[in-house]
Amino acid sequence: MWHRALATVLVLLRFAGHSLAGFPNQINIGGLFMRSTVQEHSAFRFAVQLYNTNQNATEKPFHLNYNVDNLESSNSFSVTHAFCSQFSRGVYAILGFYDRKSMNTLTSFCGALHTSFITPSFPIDADVQFVIQMRPGLRGAVLSLLDHYKWEKFVYLYDTDRGKSSEPVKLLY
Ligand SMILES: *[C@@H]1O[C@H](CO)[C@@H](O)[C@H](O)[C@H]1NC(C)=O
Repeated sequence: MWHRALATVLVLLRFAGHSLAGFPNQINIGGLFMRSTVQEHSAFRFAVQLYNTNQNATEKPFHLNYNVDNLESSNSFSVTHAFCSQFSRGVYAILGFYDRKSMNTLTSFCGALHTSFITPSFPIDADVQFVIQMRPGLRGAVLSLLDHYKWEKFVYLYDTDRGKSSEPVKLLY
């Protein structure tokens, strides 16, 4: 009888301890990279390692476990496969890149499955839930600049990736 009571108390304490701690001490995150983005992949691994080797518990409240999937191509089959593989590992968030072809598939998965996607890719103008953009959108800033200086003629230079997505010039007319 006494043993059972003690066991119950221990179990209760365990639960209390768990809920007091609030957050698990191991967090799974995912990485989704194209095979060609070797530098970005290295930067990701380096950042996680830097974080995990920090000895200061205030700055490192939990340990990050990461698993990276490499995408051979950005067709929807590969992207779906990679996303599901990440999701089945119970990741809290995925850091990765999208391009024109994979953007819609990725963002709709994140919205449907409530998985955060943190991305340094070109910003999407639509406000997509669960997608955290590391780059700010430029459209508003460009339009404000044009408006402020009342420029009627201007040249807008962009790299191919950005220009296709924002097209602020078209928006003006
Ligand atoms: C741990 O980090 C916090 C916040 O950066 C800092 O205030 C504290 O002094 C650090 N503790 C140690 C032991 O370095």
